[in-house]
This record gives sequence, structure tokens and C-alpha cells, in this order.
Amino acid sequence: MKKVFVKSYGCQMNVYDAERMADVLATEGYSETKAMEEADLVILNTCHIREKAAEKVYSELGRVRELKQEREALGQETRIIVAGCVAQAEGKEILRRAPAVDVVVGPQNYHRLPDLLKKSRAERVVDTEFPIEDKFDHLPVPSKAKTRSRGISAFLTIQEGCDKFCTFCVVPYTRGAEVSRPVARILDEAVRLAEAGVRELTLIGQNVNAYHGEGPDGKTWSLGRLLRRLAEIEGIARLRYMTSHPRDMDDELIAAHGDLPALMPYLHLPVQSGSDRILDAMNRKHTGDEYRRLIERIRQVRPNLALSSDFIVGFPGETDADFEETMRLVADVGFASSFSFKYSPRPGTPAAEIEDQIPEAVKVERLARLQNLLETQRQAFNHGTVGQTLDVLLEKPGRHPGQMAGKSPYLQPVQFESDAHHIGEIVTVRIVRAGSNSLFGEWVKAGDRVAA
Ligand code: SAH
Ligand code: SF4
Ligand code: F3S
Repeated sequence: MKKVFVKSYGCQMNVYDAERMADVLATEGYSETKAMEEADLVILNTCHIREKAAEKVYSELGRVRELKQEREALGQETRIIVAGCVAQAEGKEILRRAPAVDVVVGPQNYHRLPDLLKKSRAERVVDTEFPIEDKFDHLPVPSKAKTRSRGISAFLTIQEGCDKFCTFCVVPYTRGAEVSRPVARILDEAVRLAEAGVRELTLIGQNVNAYHGEGPDGKTWSLGRLLRRLAEIEGIARLRYMTSHPRDMDDELIAAHGDLPALMPYLHLPVQSGSDRILDAMNRKHTGDEYRRLIERIRQVRPNLALSSDFIVGFPGETDADFEETMRLVADVGFASSFSFKYSPRPGTPAAEIEDQIPEAVKVERLARLQNLLETQRQAFNHGTVGQTLDVLLEKPGRHPGQMAGKSPYLQPVQFESDAHHIGEIVTVRIVRAGSNSLFGEWVKAGDRVAA
């Protein structure tokens, strides 16, 4: 059997796409391997979001090329595919810079992989069109065993692309316009996942709360409505969604946070900056105070809501005073976890053209200060759970024999002693200690065992 190795960079969308690519190639007789050295086919599923991410691809391609030569000496063939957002953004340029690459394929076209691989026998191919057909209609369904092997928590793409055009961001160019999958297709996929033992669904999309899919009643459904329906599926105990935009948190979605126990009280809602001037220059279309009020509204219906966010420091024109506004917003809101980045100018985006770019040294210093504060908040949040009882969804055996490991509603890893529980159960655990990355607890109540 031929072997395929897929390496993914970037966001959750790429993680999902990597699995779908493996499913497509399984129909062509490829099995997945975790060792690149034994792969007959290597796929780099790339990310274009920051310069570093994009450049990584070329250094990795250098390594893959060496491997290809080594295998060639042993009489083994290695074929190389570049997929994902760098593929979409750079297309042919990749063939020029990396002569060992056989196929370049964008995120909308990977259902065509078998065909592209065949074509590439004659000449190297690039497929970065935005096709008329829906790739989801052409993707094979993985076996129950395959789905189960991927764990009890699964990603489900419900929306792709972005129409927001934040001035720093490449996503609207690499992933195209917003498209929502129809409700019926999402329900089919969710039921299939639940039947294979999946207990937690994370609905994903570049801009997932802009979801507006066609419902079975012919009407347009919002994310709030979709979540309500998904919460009814037997076996699905936890629902999450990411990544969302503050502008798309509509009343129906906020209400869902109050009404649906399955919807976890943990929301990734990127704010990027606390300065109204910078938010405006970023084209985020909301102010710092609007964000604060939005959080208050969600906390009114879900008081135990915890938050995470993305931040960019050193956006062009960002003054010390602007940066202090970001620090103030972080202090006001309080985040359980966050991602923060130095602004990276991206080709083709409006912000890259702004003259007042911020010196690297200033970005470095601001990032260090922000990360310090965010880390303090993260630790405080984790320590704040000590003494609480939390529901833990069991994912795997713990580090030591007799231990189990799972996730809290806030996605914190939790370990506890147990020899009576099973993966997929939700167990109530009293948290007794917080380490730097995990929580440690003791179980107080057996879980809701589901038939496997
Ligand atoms: N769709 C999501 C996030 C997409 S990218 C949203 O709207 O929030 C993930 C994160 O990368 C962004 O939230 C942003 O913080 C960061 N990012 C995007 N472009 C960037 C750039 N040019 N430089 C630095 N960070 C960037
Ligand atoms: Fe990028 Fe903004 Fe769209 Fe998020 S909302 S993907 S940051 S353009
Ligand atoms: Fe990167 Fe593309 Fe995701 S640019 S962050 S992989 S949408």
C-alpha cells in the first residue's frame, strides 16, 4: 500500500482539510503515515497568514527534496504536493522556487487530488481556481473506524472564506468569499461523527458566526439556530465554534449561549486591538467599548463565560498610546488564553502599503509586555479553577498508569487518577491543583457513559 504524509500549518481549517485530503487519497489506495521518510507522497498544507509561516514552507520543501533524493537512490519514488493558503497565494511561483514539487493545489480544489496527481505525470500542475462545484459534494466519507481513530473531539467545517477584509489579513484572498454549507449536509456529517463515537463538535470557519446556510425549510439559518439543532443530536455532549468576529455575534447566537448547556462557556472572539483608531484602520468595524459591551451581554446570559482572543501589536501607525489602550482592554475584559502576534506586512493587503510601519524593536517590546499580561491572566484563570468541580471529557489515558486525561469546558487539560472510566465519558472532577499547563483533580462523580 502506498503511504501519504500530510503536514499542516496554520489554523483549524487546515487541520480539517488535512483529514479530508487523507480521505480523498485513501480512495486511491494511500494509507496515512506519521513518518515522512516512508512516504510515497508528501503533502505540505500551508499557511500564508504571516511572513514566517509562509517562509517555513520553502525551508521545509528543501528538506523534503533531500528526502526525495535519498529515496530515489533506493529506487523509491516520492511525489510532493503543496496545498493550503501559500499554494493559493503563490501558485506557479512555488513551482519556480521549488523544482521538486509535482502539484500545487488551493484549499478549494483538493477534492481533485487524484486527478491532479495523474496529470502531473505528464507535467507539473497548479490548480488554484475557485471551482463552481462544491468540493464537499466530492469528498468521500471516511470509515467509522477511521473517524474513531481521530478522537472523540472533531472539527466540522460549516463555512469557508471571509468577506470582512481586515486590512492586515490575507484570508479573504486565499480562501475567497464567504460560503456557508447547507444545514442538511452539516447535520449528516454531525450524525455520522456522533455515530462513530465523537462527543464534541467544534464548528469551524474563517468567520464561522457569519454562517448563513440554507435550512431544510428553505429559509436561511444563522449559527445560533444551527447550534440549537446540533445540540439535539444523540451523543453530542459538547459544542464549540471558531473563529468568530465580534460584528457577527447576533441576538440568536447570544441567546444560544444562555439556553444550550452543550454550548461550552468558552469563546474565542478575537479583538486584535483596544485602540479605536487602530481598530478603524484595521477595518474591524467595531470599537473597544462595543467589544466590552458585547462581552457583558454574553456574560449576562452565561455568567461563567471565559474568553480567548487574538491580538496584533505594531500595526502600522500604532502609537504608544494606542498600545496602552490594548493593555487597558485586556485588563478590563480578562482572557483565559490568547494568541498574540507582531504585525507582519502581507503582499496585496492594504495595511502593507501604509507608510508608517512600526520598527521591529518596538513590536518586540510591545509583544513582550502584552504576552506578559496575557500569561498572568491565563495563570490566574487556571488557578481560579482550583476548588471548583468541572466536567471533564475524557480523551485518553493520562501520563502515568492509572490516570486519565481530558478537557475541561474551558479546554484546559485535566489529569486525574482513575481506573474505572472510559474515553468519551464526561466525569465530574474536583480540581485540586493547577500546573503551568494542566489541571490536576479527583473524580467526584461517574460520567454519563454512552454506548460505544
Ligand atoms: N478569522 C479570524 C482569524 C484569522 S487569522 C478572525 O477574524 O479573527 C488568525 C489571527 O492571525 C488573526 O486573528 C490575527 O490576530 C492574526 N493575523 C492575521 N493577519 C496577520 C498579520 N498580517 N500579521 C500578524 N498577525 C496576523
Ligand atoms: Fe482575516 Fe478579518 Fe476575515 Fe478574520 S475577519 S479572516 S482577520 S479578514
Ligand atoms: Fe493560515 Fe490559511 Fe488558516 S492563511 S491561518 S491556513 S486560512
